[in-house]
Amino acid sequence: MQQLKINGGHRLVGEIRASGAKNATLPILAASLLTADDLVLHNVPDLADVRTMLKLLAGMGVKVQRAGTDVTLNASTVTSTIAPYDLVKTMRASVLTLCPLVARFGSADVSLPGGCAIGARPVDQHIRGLRQLGAKVEIDHGYVRATSSRLTGAHIVTDMVTVTGTENLVMAAVLADGCTVIENAAREPEVVDLCNCLSAMGARIQGAGTPVLYIEGVKQLHGAEHTVIADRIEAGSFFVASVVTQGDVLVTHCQPGHMEVVLDKLRRCGAQLDIGNDWVRVRMDGRPQPVSIRTVPHPGFPTDMQAQFMTLNCLATGTAHITETIFENRFMHVPELLRLGAHITIEGHTAIVEGVPELTGATIMATDLRASASLVIAALAAQGSSTVDRIYHLDRGYERMEDKLRQLGADIVRVDD
Ligand code: EPZ
Repeated sequence: MQQLKINGGHRLVGEIRASGAKNATLPILAASLLTADDLVLHNVPDLADVRTMLKLLAGMGVKVQRAGTDVTLNASTVTSTIAPYDLVKTMRASVLTLCPLVARFGSADVSLPGGCAIGARPVDQHIRGLRQLGAKVEIDHGYVRATSSRLTGAHIVTDMVTVTGTENLVMAAVLADGCTVIENAAREPEVVDLCNCLSAMGARIQGAGTPVLYIEGVKQLHGAEHTVIADRIEAGSFFVASVVTQGDVLVTHCQPGHMEVVLDKLRRCGAQLDIGNDWVRVRMDGRPQPVSIRTVPHPGFPTDMQAQFMTLNCLATGTAHITETIFENRFMHVPELLRLGAHITIEGHTAIVEGVPELTGATIMATDLRASASLVIAALAAQGSSTVDRIYHLDRGYERMEDKLRQLGADIVRVDD
């Protein structure tokens, strides 16, 4: 396994470019299954999860060509509608192939993802909605086995806001016979990006970005060319790194309109923000003021930025409360932050963070994707050297994070342990 060796205490100063959004790329890659024509994508990030999805699709017979951040997919020669456990267990977003497979080929055998570090993360909403659209769905030996001669439109109300649940059900409804309404739909920018790509492919979708989606099914979808939106969570992670190192970081090729709540929290902690139409500059002098957080579905504060803001609050000039309402176990970065000298106590779904003047380096272990980002950020701010273990978690969602951080003046190297 690989580690990151970090000598903290250096201000981050400079300019980096945001990559394409992981959580927009994954559903859009799955959408290639919905047509026999080429789907040409731009701004696709080079991430472990993206490579896993491409491997999964290629295993089904999808032709994949990749050149840098450009990817062309063609599903005219799909030979298998199975998403095997050995791939699904490494990336739960594989479940996003379930509905496109049923919608276009009438069948899908997709392994249940199994447990995840941050929570049980069931897919019952995906299954219930697919049944409402007329599919026969059974759970058999750990696989979701779904069949349908032709899906028919339905009125679906999900029990909670689910990002990939909404995305999966949209990808079923676009080829269903008749109209579908999805209420309680997720409004994340990544869901909107998928809907925009599907519309470019000929789908008829109204209401993207609102809680109610109206989809009029069509007979088939055609190819399209689409540029994936910027990764708002990657950008946000670098903004927090600038704040905790009292730095001056400019992130280009990002979309400020997708992260208004995060930018507002950065202002409230005392950061100085300059914002353009596709760039944001974050400067910080001195320690941040505490900013309390409550994670909720978009457009509220994103759960994927919770761990990073916990690190920010570890160095704040007061006490902050961080409440996680989306996942039941997304505080695993807390014990690792305590090793760096943070003062955090957990009461149910709320972490009480008392800021300290400084953290000190130690060996810490990543447990999940965003927790690993929060630990790298903390190590950058800590005095002395740190080692971050199990950084394969980081590689799932950050493209060459240490390279971008070195570009900003960080003293960080990747080593094999
Ligand atoms: C997506 O996960 C993201 N992943 C997650 O990002 C993100 O944290 C999450 O949405 C919330 O914003 C991708 O888009 C690939 P949910 P998803 O379904 O869709 C419960 C990252 O770090 N639920 O919106 O799996 C679920 O357990 C990752 O990039 C059900 O109970 O999340 C959770 O408590 C981590 N049954 C809540 O809903 C279901 O059928 C929201 O989950 C579906 C969800």
